[in-house]
Amino acid sequence: MNKRLKYLFITCTCLSLCSACDEGKIYPDDTIDSGRTATVTLHFTHLDAWPQKNSMSLISLGEDGVTPILVKRILEPSSEAEAVTVTLNNLTENTHSIAVAVVTSGMSLVHAYQSFPVNASEESLTLPETTIEVASFSRIQTQVFNAKCVMCHGGSTTTAGDLDLTAAKAYNSLINVKAPHSDEGKNYVTPGDLNNSYLLDVLEHDNHIDIFNGAEQREVRALIRTWIKAGAENN
Ligand code: HEC
Repeated sequence: MNKRLKYLFITCTCLSLCSACDEGKIYPDDTIDSGRTATVTLHFTHLDAWPQKNSMSLISLGEDGVTPILVKRILEPSSEAEAVTVTLNNLTENTHSIAVAVVTSGMSLVHAYQSFPVNASEESLTLPETTIEVASFSRIQTQVFNAKCVMCHGGSTTTAGDLDLTAAKAYNSLINVKAPHSDEGKNYVTPGDLNNSYLLDVLEHDNHIDIFNGAEQREVRALIRTWIKAGAENN
């Protein structure tokens, strides 16, 4: 670039920056407020399984369906009776869906409870009022089994202890099924009966104790215990 062109370029950049200032826009183009919002009123059941290490959030997702674009943390309600209204501001054009989800502090998706497709219009959205079962089996499947167990308990050649925890099999592998290595003759999972659910013993006492650590272990245990207490439904 010769000197004159460079001067012209700098002048133009300054001018456009200043005009942006005049309009009160201080963000670079890709974060200009779209003005589009999504609002949802949520009810939550079984708050004992509320994530403590990760966070419950309302998120927007793009085409891949797994990488959050926007994340708004949802504070734990004080009781199940309390409805929570959450708004996600400034939706981007590439939004394909909005989900109630558990996400890590690094904003990775752990589990999406409920997701709402979003079309490409510019209108703000009011999503249907929704009840979230915090202690759902599908959250256990994604957050626990898919993430940390199926590499060993994954069917065919890698079914450690003859226990298949892949999505199609896990529920039926566990519910009211006798655990062959339980000295007390426990089932893997007995709905409503924490003391007759060997799945908890394995995570708490055996050689599986290191799979989850610290706060994440507490979160996962609370999730599984709450789910069993609530009747261990396939939900
Ligand atoms: C590194 C491999 C590995 C991973 C990961 C793993 N397991 Fe295991 N698991 C085993 C092996 C091997 C056995 C069989 C132990 C035995 O026979 O004494 C076993 C046994 C079990 C049993 C008892 C089965 C019986 O025979 O009574 C349960 C329940 C279980 N695992 C659940 C889990 C869960 C839940 C996860 C994920 C949080 C998990 N395992 C992750 C290797 C693994």
